[in-house]
Amino acid sequence: MAEQETCAVCGGTGWRSVNKDGVAAVERCDCVLNERVGNMLINANIPPLYRNASFENFNTQPENPIAHRQLQTAATIAASFAREYPYGTKRQGLLFIGDPGTGKTHLAVSVIKRLISRGFGAVFFDYQNLLERMRASYDPAAGSASRDTYRTALECEVLLLDDLGAHRVSDWVEDTVTSLITYRYNNNKPIIATTNLRDPEAGDAPLSSAGIGGDSSARYYLTERIGQRARSRLFEMCRAISTRGVEDYRIRKGKMLQ
Ligand SMILES: Nc1ncnc2c1ncn2[C@@H]1O[C@H](COP(=O)(O)OP(=O)(O)OP(=O)(O)O)[C@@H](O)[C@H]1O
Ligand SMILES: [Mg+2]
Ligand SMILES: [Zn+2]
Repeated sequence: MAEQETCAVCGGTGWRSVNKDGVAAVERCDCVLNERVGNMLINANIPPLYRNASFENFNTQPENPIAHRQLQTAATIAASFAREYPYGTKRQGLLFIGDPGTGKTHLAVSVIKRLISRGFGAVFFDYQNLLERMRASYDPAAGSASRDTYRTALECEVLLLDDLGAHRVSDWVEDTVTSLITYRYNNNKPIIATTNLRDPEAGDAPLSSAGIGGDSSARYYLTERIGQRARSRLFEMCRAISTRGVEDYRIRKGKMLQ
């Protein structure tokens, strides 16, 4: 096996000499910073399917004017959030809302990857999986891993909550997600969430008239799945980005392969 290469700049010490206005000093070497970013990326738990997702490979469909406008807006808001965080935005989070396969998770992952490369900690959580783990953590026989997972979801710097509300409602689910969102809200900790669920605040038409304007999609409102209190805090914390009505990329790709 090849030996790990020693950094040519710092000789493996992690510090490099610099000269500031004629005064010799030392600074953290880039190799240390790069290793830190590498570790944070591993700890971010990004699912393999999305590891390569980025703003660069997000296709805004220039050939389709309506989808293009929506996807371009979504990508621009997401990229400027990732570039300017923690400054520049009044709201410290993002809520991607729209139909399945419209790039919500792709963009959300692109945001956290960029934040991590800038040195901020961010962790990906699948909502259903997180709930299962939290349920397991109430079992005295369960290991500490489940409890650690919940602690990470509460405390990590930026939380990506993927597919929020994708779960049958119960009082327990509603209480649990409310306590998670409330904790982060009270402590000024940002959330980036994605959801298929419908919400008028994000421009979704009411269900009664759905289907008329090509607004296919969700049969449930966000508030029905996570409760009013969690929803209200989420909208206060997050800027909503809608991809409702854009064609499902998974199906589109399938068609192109035919
Ligand atoms: N505009 C796009 N450009 C490039 N790849 C895309 C685009 N939109 C989606 N994809 C890819 O298509 C797949 C589905 O997208 P993604 O998972 O982001 O959709 P989603 O909106 O989160 O869907 P769901 O609601 O089902 O979770 C992913 O592999 C993603 O990388
Ligand atoms: Mg998704
Ligand atoms: Zn070095």
